[in-house]
Amino acid sequence: MKGRFFLLLSGLLLLSGAWADAPAKMKIVLEFQPDPLNGRKVFDVCARCHMPEAWGNEDGTYPQLAGQHATVLLRQLMEIRTGQRANALMRPFVQERTLGGYQNLVDVVAYISRLPMDPAYIRGPWSEGTPEYDKGRQIYTAHCAACHGPEGEGNAQGAVPRLQGQHYPYTRRQAIAIKRGQRRADLAMQAVVSQLDEHELELALNYVSQLEVPKTDLAPTPNWRNPDFK
Ligand code: HEC
Ligand code: HEC
Repeated sequence: MKGRFFLLLSGLLLLSGAWADAPAKMKIVLEFQPDPLNGRKVFDVCARCHMPEAWGNEDGTYPQLAGQHATVLLRQLMEIRTGQRANALMRPFVQERTLGGYQNLVDVVAYISRLPMDPAYIRGPWSEGTPEYDKGRQIYTAHCAACHGPEGEGNAQGAVPRLQGQHYPYTRRQAIAIKRGQRRADLAMQAVVSQLDEHELELALNYVSQLEVPKTDLAPTPNWRNPDFK
């Protein structure tokens, strides 16, 4: 099994006097080897809400988890587990007592990240050739692409979500929740969205929703069903 996961627990030390020369940050790095077979078992409980394909839904109440970077899934899971990201519905299911320790988290995200994505993901209302599409491209390129990537591919190492292939109603709802301070998120991301109004966010996310997902990442048809669930 290739690929490893690192869980970073970083903390700030308060320094004074003789300690002033000590490093200001300390990190504990735990290393895990993912086991997708065990991940499949852990995924049973997730599938009750996210369904066996983890494709999300049209109205954006559920995100497309399939094909998302494992590091992003892990970070979101940890934040939902601890309550840093509010999700009252899901939270009880991902506690250490109900779901198990870090190894199970690593295994389940490894499994989900390898699922093929919904080829019929929901796009925003403005297609290529409209002024809204062009405006969205400008906003996305200027304000979002540096972190989320020119094609919305995200960044696995930096745990920046892949926006490509994510349902537009979900990304729209999340970006607006982050802007309004209803979803706590990465501070740099929060700073960027607070400079834009909600319509500008919609236009940027409409643009990224129109981008093509590489065929290799998609399921062959919208009727594809996860063969691990009979
Ligand atoms: C009781 C239903 C329920 C269960 C069980 C559940 N989830 Fe969720 N999950 C949700 C809902 C609803 C959301 C969307 C929350 C929001 O809108 O902020 C979500 C969001 C997420 C996200 C955030 C994705 C993103 O990019 O923003 C991740 C990751 C996730 N779930 C993984 C899991 C995993 C892994 C499991 C199983 C261990 C699981 N969920 C079990 C309901 C559930
Ligand atoms: C400084 C880097 C950075 C920039 C710039 C940035 N983002 Fe993000 N974004 C992130 C990170 C990191 C997250 C994960 C958030 C978290 O902490 O939960 C995120 C999360 C998101 C999410 C939620 C995705 C999900 O799966 O839950 C959306 C939607 C989003 N960003 C849209 C945008 C848009 C639109 C822009 C431009 C206007 C933008 N971002 C600019 C780093 C960035």
